[in-house]
Amino acid sequence: MDSRISARALCAALGGWRTREPAYEALADGIRLLCLDNRVAPRTALPAERELSAALEVSRSTVAAAYRSLRDSGHIASTRGSGSVTLPLRRRDPGRASTSEGAIDLQQASPPAWPGLAGLISDVALSASTIVSRTGYDVLGRIELREAIAARYSQRGIPTSPNEIVVTTGAQSAIHLLAAVLLGRGDRVLIETPTYPHAADALRRADARLVGVPVTTEHGWDLDRAEQAFARTLPVLAYLMPDFQNPTGRSMTALERAAILGAAERSGTILVLDETTADLDIDRGPVRSGFMDGDPALVVRVGSLGKTVWGGLRVGWIRAESDLVRRLVAARPAHDLGTPEFEQAVAAAVFPQYAAVVVQRSHVLRAGRDAAIAEIARLLPEWRVPTVHGGVSLWIGLDAPLSSALVMDVRSRGLLLSAGPRFSVEGGHDRHLRIPFTAAPEELARAVSTLAEAWPRVLQGAPVSVTEQFDSVV
Ligand SMILES: Cc1ncc(COP(=O)(O)O)c(C=O)c1O
Repeated sequence: MDSRISARALCAALGGWRTREPAYEALADGIRLLCLDNRVAPRTALPAERELSAALEVSRSTVAAAYRSLRDSGHIASTRGSGSVTLPLRRRDPGRASTSEGAIDLQQASPPAWPGLAGLISDVALSASTIVSRTGYDVLGRIELREAIAARYSQRGIPTSPNEIVVTTGAQSAIHLLAAVLLGRGDRVLIETPTYPHAADALRRADARLVGVPVTTEHGWDLDRAEQAFARTLPVLAYLMPDFQNPTGRSMTALERAAILGAAERSGTILVLDETTADLDIDRGPVRSGFMDGDPALVVRVGSLGKTVWGGLRVGWIRAESDLVRRLVAARPAHDLGTPEFEQAVAAAVFPQYAAVVVQRSHVLRAGRDAAIAEIARLLPEWRVPTVHGGVSLWIGLDAPLSSALVMDVRSRGLLLSAGPRFSVEGGHDRHLRIPFTAAPEELARAVSTLAEAWPRVLQGAPVSVTEQFDSVV
């Protein structure tokens, strides 16, 4: 069945859409961006013109003109009687441009594969006959791999047995499985805003109601808001990234960890700590502490080799107490029938070299971060660039809520980025732009120069009042 989006939901997703004149083109651009980001899926019925104009407080002719522009650009189709429906993206849209002439795709923050991986894959392939002699449906994970993952936690000061590990096809699949097992319709989930958008999507899919807690590059986690949210909404689960949070790059201080752990324990909330980015340390050496080591029934950890080794390996895991592990394994076959054997064998072979992997990562990320920061300081000195010591991206503060307008502008010039609102939980963040520093320094320099060339044009196209708008307009 095709889905529909209500005028209210579209209005919230659009956020501060009025970024340029004429207003109808700004509105059309806002809807295009939602389609490109897949926040409005193909074949979604859009609200009737009258409803949307009332929700956005604009004239009906503005909405009619925006829909006409979207029809002309092939983003929607309208039929008398059944209204306007979004169309599947044409091939020139996301992903494609990255492989065509010189385009740069910074939508995903994914570092290149660890250079030792190809050799390791060849070595593991030599034992192919042993691997294929197994049954191959492995919903728990190979014991060698679970032992290696458990040993790494124990080294970090979090004693772990292999029975407390489930291997998954990446962290995304882990988040999805946890949401399916732990959440029921309407349950509250506390989540940082901005956050990693696919996690928010997975939690929404489980029909959870998300409660956003702000994290900023300057001040970190808003502890007052977090404590109130835990106490008032009694969330069943909190999804958090304590180290090198994606996209802000912030890590929790000891005080923040203690406050959040205490609040979660008081409200009986399960903390799902996504540590996919935790080992991506550039300046301080590997993360060592047994942080947020609370009641084992309440602290669940998600990890992955996606950013440290290679996203294409698709190996991640969940660390949880063994009762929860049993529930996860029982529920898993409805989602998938296990993690591929070959990838698990490769992952197990990576772990003895993990220290070297982390060092190499740190070099790659340092080069990207420093190049991006230097180019922005040179060409866009008015932008606010945070100090980050690791992770995958810079969460840049723009001096106007024009992230979506900028992303639309540079897209037509072969630079693909995700606008700030993509990382938002309840709308807003159009004053921010995420620039992943996982790409090569030369690519980042080219990307910043495209942004610098576009920025004055985008600012000029913006209505005068736009710089007065608040970031969190919904
Ligand atoms: C914080 C965070 N969690 C999870 C994921 C997904 O990881 P995986 O590739 O292991 O599914 C990502 C990837 O971008 C991420 O940044």
